[in-house]
This record gives sequence, structure tokens and C-alpha cells, in this order.
Amino acid sequence: MQTITAVAHPNLAFVKYWGKVDHNLNIPTNGSISMNLSGATTTTTVTFDADLEADRITINSITAEHPRVAAHLDRVRQLAGIETRALVISDNNFPASAGIASSASAFAALSLAASRAAGLNLNDKALSILARSGSGSACRSIPDGFAEWLPGRDHESSYAQQLAPPDHWDLRVISAIVETGAKEVASSQGHRAVQTSNFFPARLSVLAQTLDTVRTALLARDFPAFGATVEAEALAMHAIALTSQVEEKIGILYWGPSTLILIRAIQQWRANGLPVYYTIDAGPNVHLICEAKYQTGVERALAPLLAGLGGRYFVSRPAPGARVVKPT
Ligand code: PMV
Repeated sequence: MQTITAVAHPNLAFVKYWGKVDHNLNIPTNGSISMNLSGATTTTTVTFDADLEADRITINSITAEHPRVAAHLDRVRQLAGIETRALVISDNNFPASAGIASSASAFAALSLAASRAAGLNLNDKALSILARSGSGSACRSIPDGFAEWLPGRDHESSYAQQLAPPDHWDLRVISAIVETGAKEVASSQGHRAVQTSNFFPARLSVLAQTLDTVRTALLARDFPAFGATVEAEALAMHAIALTSQVEEKIGILYWGPSTLILIRAIQQWRANGLPVYYTIDAGPNVHLICEAKYQTGVERALAPLLAGLGGRYFVSRPAPGARVVKPT
């Protein structure tokens, strides 16, 4: 069988996926909207080899047991009707300690490389469904540019589709990395805990409106409306985390002291006339969002502050989705 190499990027959610109706299939409670980040890439090579007795999986040069990857290969084998074991080599061009979750780009690249190597030629919808089964938000790393995950009700109806191509809007995401340790509460636990938040029904009650506003502002390139809604939505997600309970632990607080310093600074820069907004995922790092023409201004404001906090940053543009790079 063929050896296939595919690449994919992580994606940043402007409307967040937080809460699942099915934890095995990763069916989300609500839809979400995202952009692929050009600043980080996963490259994955897959070969199905009849001589192998077990899957052999090497991630960032370390060969180990990876049950989630092996389970994903089982899904691909089932789709292709084969039993053959696979050789998987996957590398991120960003360190695990970069504070950027690699599971979205990892499962997007793996879904494409493994399905092609198994002789399948899945369309974007089927690939997005496959990627979602491995890691929910990976489904949004399949289409090019900006994506919307249609939550659906079951395996067949929950997938992401393109909202706009990468060149639709020259947005810049400046990811400020302030803490690199593993988070205290994994996002899978956070997804499970939403039901313990009294505020969860309130968040869901405005979500259709939030999705509408973000989608419309993105398509119209209306930056003030877009930024304000994206920022408020991130705070709404964190309000759910803060008011959730995991076992006897009260409240999930993903922020660190540096997160708050950055939030205050961004508010101040905006008050001074610099059009920059932020979003935060299930961790302490802050993603600053601006239009291309303000990138230099944002970097100039951010760099000294971040240096003082011992952090660093990387810049992304809207990136393509998962794609085969070998054979070309
Ligand atoms: O894909 P997961 O299970 O790591 O969940 C990701 C959740 C957020 O990053 C916080 C939001 C999102 O939509 O990506």
C-alpha cells in the first residue's frame, strides 16, 4: 500500500465548543466557528504495512503506545475494510510546550494521511466526520480557512464546513504563550462539567445569536462587531468553566496571573485606539486578533509586556485545511 504524508494546522475557535451531547462520538452541544492557524503545523506520514504485527506510532521522534491514535487507525481500517497495521510518524513544528493544543491538527492530518494510505478517497465532509471522531475540534481543521462546525445530532450530521477561504479576510492571530505546563483540568473534563454550571442554559440560549453575529461579521469583514462578539463569547465560555464543578473541586479557572495582565493591557490598548481583541481557550494563553494593518502596532505593544512576563508569541494568518503533501 501507499505511503501518504499530510499536513494540517490547529484552529482557533471564535465561537467555542464547550460541552458535548455525546462524549464518545464528540457530538457538541452547540455549533462553533474557527480559523486555521498558519503559525503551527502538524505533518503526518502513514503506511499500512502487511509485515507489521502491531501499529508503530512515533510522535515528535518518540515511539510509544498511543491508544487514541491506534483507535483512530481502527476507524480507518473499518471504513476501508482492511486489517493491516500501520506505521505512523507525526511531527509538530511547534513544541508540545508551546501551549497550543496539537490534537486538532494531529487528528486532521492523521485522518487524511491514514484514509488515503488505506486506499480511501473521502470527501471533506466524510474526512471532517472522521477527524471529529478522534478529537472534536479536529473536524474544523479539515476545510480551508474559516470553518463552521454544524453540531448535528449524530455521527453522520456532525461535521465542519468552510465558511470562507483563507484569502477572504487577512486577519492576524498573535498567540501569546504565557504558561506552558499541562493544564490542571483537561478539556475533556471541562466538557463533562458544563452540566454542573447553572449558567450553561443561559449560554446556550444566546448561542444561535452569537453564531449568527460572528458568521455575519466574518463574512462582511466587520472587525469591530466581530472582535467584540468573539471576546464576549470567550468570556462566556470561561464563565461556564468558572461555575462548573469537577468532583469536589469548585470552579475551573484556566487563567493564570499573566492572562489577567494581558486582558487588562488589551482593554487599555483598545481604549487608546488600537483595534485588537482577544480570545482564550481552555488554558492561560491569550490569542490577540487584529486586522493585518494593525499587526505591527499590536506586536510593538505586546512584545515588551510579554518579555516582562517571560512569555513569547507567534503570529498566524488564515491557513489552508488538511492536505496531502506527498506524493505530490
Ligand atoms: O477539542 P477539545 O476537546 O480539546 O475542546 C476544545 C475546546 C476549546 O478549545 C476550549 C474550544 C474550541 O472550540 O476549540
